[in-house]
Amino acid sequence: MTNTDLADTDLADTDLADTELTDDGRATTGRAATGVAATGVGDTGTGTVAVPQTELLRVEGLGLSFPRPGGGRRVRVLDDVDLSVRAGELVGVIGETGSGKTTLARAIAGLGAPDAGRVLLDGVDISRLRGRAQRDFRRSGALQFVFQDPLRALDPDLTIGASIAEGLAITGTGTRASRAEQVSDALRRVGLDPAVADRLPAQISGGQRQRASIARAVIGRPRLLLCDEPVSALDASNRNHILRLLDGLRRQLEVGIVLISHDLSSLAGIADRVVVLYRGRVVEDGPIADVFSRPQHPYTALLIASAPSVRRQDRLDPASLRPAAGADPGADSDSDGAARRSAGGCVFAHRCRFATHACAETPPRRAVAGRPAGEWAAACHHVETWRDQVTGSTAILKESSA
Ligand SMILES: Nc1ncnc2c1ncn2[C@@H]1O[C@H](COP(=O)(O)OP(=O)(O)O)[C@@H](O)[C@H]1O
Ligand code: SF4
Ligand SMILES: [Mg+2]
Repeated sequence: MTNTDLADTDLADTDLADTELTDDGRATTGRAATGVAATGVGDTGTGTVAVPQTELLRVEGLGLSFPRPGGGRRVRVLDDVDLSVRAGELVGVIGETGSGKTTLARAIAGLGAPDAGRVLLDGVDISRLRGRAQRDFRRSGALQFVFQDPLRALDPDLTIGASIAEGLAITGTGTRASRAEQVSDALRRVGLDPAVADRLPAQISGGQRQRASIARAVIGRPRLLLCDEPVSALDASNRNHILRLLDGLRRQLEVGIVLISHDLSSLAGIADRVVVLYRGRVVEDGPIADVFSRPQHPYTALLIASAPSVRRQDRLDPASLRPAAGADPGADSDSDGAARRSAGGCVFAHRCRFATHACAETPPRRAVAGRPAGEWAAACHHVETWRDQVTGSTAILKESSA
């Protein structure tokens, strides 16, 4: 990928639904996204609830590589990834195609063998479970997936009700009658008529199918939902319904949610925090309102500047964040920019306008100035200074012209 082809990725985001956002970056249809986890209490519009503080998921230093077709050095897809989710918290994961989002979700779920790090769910390292312990964990249903295509969860030949009850039936939970009752409850919980239980997936709409797949995921009261692009295939109206549904479920069920989405505006409406992946590394993570308003990493800034529907404080012009045509990022202070890039260093250096000699070293993720450790961090050597280079008059879009 070149440094100017962001538009070729699924994060170019030029067609996002601008109408869904208000001036402060919140969705008009969603819950306030601002710093909920930090404040301890949030008003949901349906009454004030205590915001969860219990850590549910902790991913530490996760690394994963795949064999290269034809042999040779393995391809590193995740590198030193950290992530945490509290019970009832909704954490967004963004990054362009190929950045490792799906691999991360699969690794958390125990699908794919990490070669470094840990995945702790309620303090237990689930990445190390084997044999019976692993089987028991999977049967517990503590961790569930919601996919972009609901037909990955719903068998086309089974009624919706049978698909939703499948997990309960396999574990022998309850009687046939009590399972049918639980299916009805689950369908109501996702806003569907219980009569849908008798239909086949092909007999209901795409939006209804995604609701049904969510009912299947939550019927066993999971601790964590991993949602991989769950609204990408839906129209704007269904997308909003599903996002509101997920937001409601994490509150009602105290389920933690990891929501992978290339649509930044979807996350702006409901996520508490966001994790930004670039080439398998976390380059920034923090409260979503802060990150979207004033990104600290040049890559996050480029993503957000390229997403017209996401309101932000400084409204940087995407062009001001890209290297000038013909420039060799990282070659500012000597002539060995290419050599330094190939030797490692910052993963974003080849696309970064602000790269310098220092960027030959991989930047550690450091807390943003004035924030406590763990709240907001970015991995950039020049996090304090890169913005000074783009805050000239041409770099800032006027509110009216954006
Ligand atoms: N089973 C696999 N074998 C080899 N490479 C894979 C495999 N799965 C994913 N990859 C590679 O890992 C990288 C990350 O993929 P993925 O996690 O699907 O990214 P994303 O979901 O962000 O688009 C891509 O380069 C992809 O080609
Ligand atoms: S460390 Fe250097 S190359 Fe990497 S994002 Fe920061 S300025 Fe750019
Ligand atoms: Mg993916």
